[in-house]
Amino acid sequence: MSDGSQRHVSRRRFLSLGLALAGGVVAMKPRPGRAQDAPDRKDMVRWAFLSDTHIAADPDNHFRGFYPHRNFRAVLSQIDSNLPDGMVITGDISRSRGGLDAYATVQSMLTPLAEKRPIYLGVGNHDNRRDFVTAFENSDDSGEAVKDKHIVTAMAGPVRMIILDSLLYTNVFGGMIGREQRTWLETYLHVCDDTPTIVFLHHTPRADLLDNRRLFEILTPCQKVKAVVFGHSHKYEILESDGLKLINLPAVGYNFTNAQPVGWVEARLTGAGGEFVLHAVGGNPKKDGRTTMVRWRA
Ligand SMILES: [Fe+2]
Repeated sequence: MSDGSQRHVSRRRFLSLGLALAGGVVAMKPRPGRAQDAPDRKDMVRWAFLSDTHIAADPDNHFRGFYPHRNFRAVLSQIDSNLPDGMVITGDISRSRGGLDAYATVQSMLTPLAEKRPIYLGVGNHDNRRDFVTAFENSDDSGEAVKDKHIVTAMAGPVRMIILDSLLYTNVFGGMIGREQRTWLETYLHVCDDTPTIVFLHHTPRADLLDNRRLFEILTPCQKVKAVVFGHSHKYEILESDGLKLINLPAVGYNFTNAQPVGWVEARLTGAGGEFVLHAVGGNPKKDGRTTMVRWRA
């Protein structure tokens, strides 16, 4: 969608397009009747936040002594033992370059959970967008909000989730939101209601996101945006910048340094803030089980 056409689209039509994506290019949805309590009626929801699964078609693929398949299975087992309301994975789904066989493996691993809970997937620099969309796209896809970008918007109880696409080139480290997606985001945030909003992307802000400054010129002054959740650095850290919470998810697949855990983050979210619990399945176990509480900016 061009900038010009985006500006002239009506608020109602724009929202219906954006929100339709929650039922469109969502990777995997539960079967009708399988989901428990409708999450949009809760004051508090519990979501599993994952990043950097790095799954290859070969289950024995390993790096730095880590076996991403084994880690992912361990994480999914933990999640399955106490089902959250849903799951987000912020990219680097595949080991290095995408591939339909790698995504088919991910899909088979996720299917038991996907039958019970919504799962929203983003793409990272080690994904191939074309393979990803081919593998996960639903037949009821309602179209792209931004050409060649995979965006998901969804309501999750007291919060809204927006999953952006920062993939620039497959297997190239740096990422970019891009002008058209930034325009879409700015317009979307302008027309949507004031529900506390969490923005997800793959790349680490300030490090490898080429248009970081322009993105935060949109996010920082928008008071309804409370947090930005990302991966890429394979590091677990919760920081704050100008009132925005910056939540850096650990990798599932492997860490880059021995100081970091591998695992996932359980997020208990309300309209006022969140509790984030680290679940380490490998790497440095020191912070396993640690809960970090944050309050959204007012
Ligand atoms: Fe990664």
